[in-house]
Amino acid sequence: MSDDLEAALTAQLAHTLDDTDFPGLGQRYRGKVRDVYRTGERLVVITTDRVSAFDHILGTVPFKGQILTEMAKAGFETTADILPNHVLDHPDPNVLVARPCRPYPVEFVVRGYITGSLWRDYQSGAAAAYELDFAADLKKDQRFARPILTPSTKAEQGAHDEPISKRAIVERGLMTAAQLEAAEAAALALYRRGVERAADRGLILVDTKYELGEDADGRLTVIDEIHTPDSSRYWRAESYPARFEAGQPQAMLDKENLRQWLIDTHGFSGHGPPPRLSDDIRVRLAARYAELYALMVGRPFTPQGGPVGARIHRNLRAAGLLADS
Ligand SMILES: Nc1ncnc2c1ncn2[C@@H]1O[C@H](COP(=O)(O)OP(=O)(O)OP(=O)(O)O)[C@@H](O)[C@H]1O
Ligand SMILES: [Mg+2]
Repeated sequence: MSDDLEAALTAQLAHTLDDTDFPGLGQRYRGKVRDVYRTGERLVVITTDRVSAFDHILGTVPFKGQILTEMAKAGFETTADILPNHVLDHPDPNVLVARPCRPYPVEFVVRGYITGSLWRDYQSGAAAAYELDFAADLKKDQRFARPILTPSTKAEQGAHDEPISKRAIVERGLMTAAQLEAAEAAALALYRRGVERAADRGLILVDTKYELGEDADGRLTVIDEIHTPDSSRYWRAESYPARFEAGQPQAMLDKENLRQWLIDTHGFSGHGPPPRLSDDIRVRLAARYAELYALMVGRPFTPQGGPVGARIHRNLRAAGLLADS
């Protein structure tokens, strides 16, 4: 990382966006990463700088909310011909105004490779819950002949999402067979597009998670975020084959770095009290996000430092979303 970038990221450590409180925007729902304000006709989705891993919020990373929002916006724009998305407006680098949808109670995880939690579940036998008939001799990070859907339930706050099969989704009445079929086809098509875009930039979109729902007219719609480093794994394509053959870890440009740091440095994989992030790892993570941003958005990330919350307040007022006060 350049000295300039490191200085800008370090200076921003004191100004990250941890929390928002805009009662005038509507009813607040606080997700792990996003604060979502709802009125009848629109959502204001503010992506904070909070970072979560293993379903715990661990702290903040400089500029993460902006980088995620702008990457999601680019991802939505480049998939709009495949499926409608929830975006209405982008009044601030950290904010999307969105159409409220009824989210399906399932996360649509599409994977081109066996790694991460699926690799762990494959080894432990827990992957049987997907009812997918995995070959018995898969190697870590191996590419599947074709991408697969590994759905998971959306757990209540604090709980872990659980693997589930398509059969169980329908049997438990979470979705109808027709809804599920359309959602699966859409998720696979979105993933193919994400893979193409990543490949153009020398990256592999390893796997990714979609949230899908229905808008007020019952149209299938992609919501939340898309192809961001929070919802996706990205590897460098160039080094994939040699590293795979040698059984070495892939060159990761995503949150897996944080998961690895938590496991290696603190033995933390989701159980017990989460460790505090050091300033060093916060800056290093921010640099990763900035690097991926530059690749995927196609221009360098230029940090505009300063308090994020105050800027959002100004921009929401200018957009007429918040009354003057
Ligand atoms: N267009 C939309 N309509 C309805 N809900 C949406 C829409 N876009 C996003 N959401 C919801 O807003 C929330 C965004 O918050 P965030 O992404 O931080 O949550 P999360 O960490 O993924 O999950 P959790 O809500 O369990 O904390 C999610 O619950 C998501 O389902
Ligand atoms: Mg989410």
